[in-house]
Amino acid sequence: MDKQAISALINSQKEQFALDQKFYTDANIYERDITEIFLKSWLYAGHISEIPNSGDWFLFELDGESVIIIRSKDDSIHALLNVCRHRGSKICLQQKGCDQILVCPYHAWGYGTDGNLLAAPHMGENFDKSAMGLKKIHLEILDGLIYINFAEQPSSFSPIQTAMSDCLEPYDLTNAKVAHRKSYLINGNWKLSVENYTECYHCAPSHPEYSRGHSLAKPNARSTDLMKEVLIKSTQCGLKNNFLDRYFQNAEGFGADYGYERYPMWRGHVTGSEDGQGVAPLMGSISGYDGGTTDFQIGPVCFALAYCDYIVIYRFTPISLTQSECDITWLVNGDAVEGKDYDLKRLIWLWDVTTIADKRIIESNALGVNSRFYEPGPLSTMEYFTWTFLSWYIEAIKPD
Ligand code: FES
Ligand SMILES: [Fe+2]
Repeated sequence: MDKQAISALINSQKEQFALDQKFYTDANIYERDITEIFLKSWLYAGHISEIPNSGDWFLFELDGESVIIIRSKDDSIHALLNVCRHRGSKICLQQKGCDQILVCPYHAWGYGTDGNLLAAPHMGENFDKSAMGLKKIHLEILDGLIYINFAEQPSSFSPIQTAMSDCLEPYDLTNAKVAHRKSYLINGNWKLSVENYTECYHCAPSHPEYSRGHSLAKPNARSTDLMKEVLIKSTQCGLKNNFLDRYFQNAEGFGADYGYERYPMWRGHVTGSEDGQGVAPLMGSISGYDGGTTDFQIGPVCFALAYCDYIVIYRFTPISLTQSECDITWLVNGDAVEGKDYDLKRLIWLWDVTTIADKRIIESNALGVNSRFYEPGPLSTMEYFTWTFLSWYIEAIKPD
């Protein structure tokens, strides 16, 4: 599709309706998704505890791009493009590692942990190494959470830091640790994955395990008494965030935006687990279970659920037009010891089982959306946030 056709398609989009098939199948629209959204938004890369020592690194990858997130000798963390400045070979080929010098596997140029070129054999006397360091992209750290941005001049990260600090402070994420990280391959365009995450209309039919404890699956059944009860306990337990704090500056800002919302779990459930009971030590300065949980979002494709004893972070990225990745990180208190303070299987059970179900329903959605007979249908009242995402999305990719 050319730009004119894309504009016409966007202009014909009905409010509160699913998207036209072409948004999921057209290569030019996908290209705009990458350039207008993924190369401009703040994206969650990982947590600082994954690279505790100098030289530790892991990769962030999307749509063929690869970034090395590495800790330097001076403890600073860099986001280096994984493309050699000689003839362009990919340098780091594993998912993670530890190297004081990153050596290109092709002709052995060696780069320091800050990206500077240190060694380049047989390049002649006049070769200026200082001009040939690995390219860097922007990186910011929010309470230990590493965010990166490919844009040359990204939107400021400080409004996110300011707005999220009260919400995140009690969890002490700077000193948290990654208990587990898992990647789920989803055979579906990335938007189908995000659409699915942004609504709980499907929770009751598709997620019996989640719906047992989480009131978001049936928001109208929540009583005012339950809301009040959890709100009072929440303050007593040292949680600073209230209910209904979800806010987005405006649809335009979704790409660098943020929001959070605390809501009660059903009585008898204090966290996201098989039996509703705690699965890890309380996080940070939280002094007890209040019976609530916090949803938060930073940027367009990073979502999280913060329970009193663990946090689960979701990130959706495109692999190609027809495939996406769902990357999940489970964070626990920094001093919690696996096997002693928490059982890994119990900790990850709920969100593993839920994501396996999500993969199945998203992939079925992708199959139907590709049918010659697919026609976009109306969204329900429980999909209001999916429409927030979709209406932001079509504006974000609109040609000038
Ligand atoms: S491509 Fe990396 S050293 Fe030649
Ligand atoms: Fe789901």
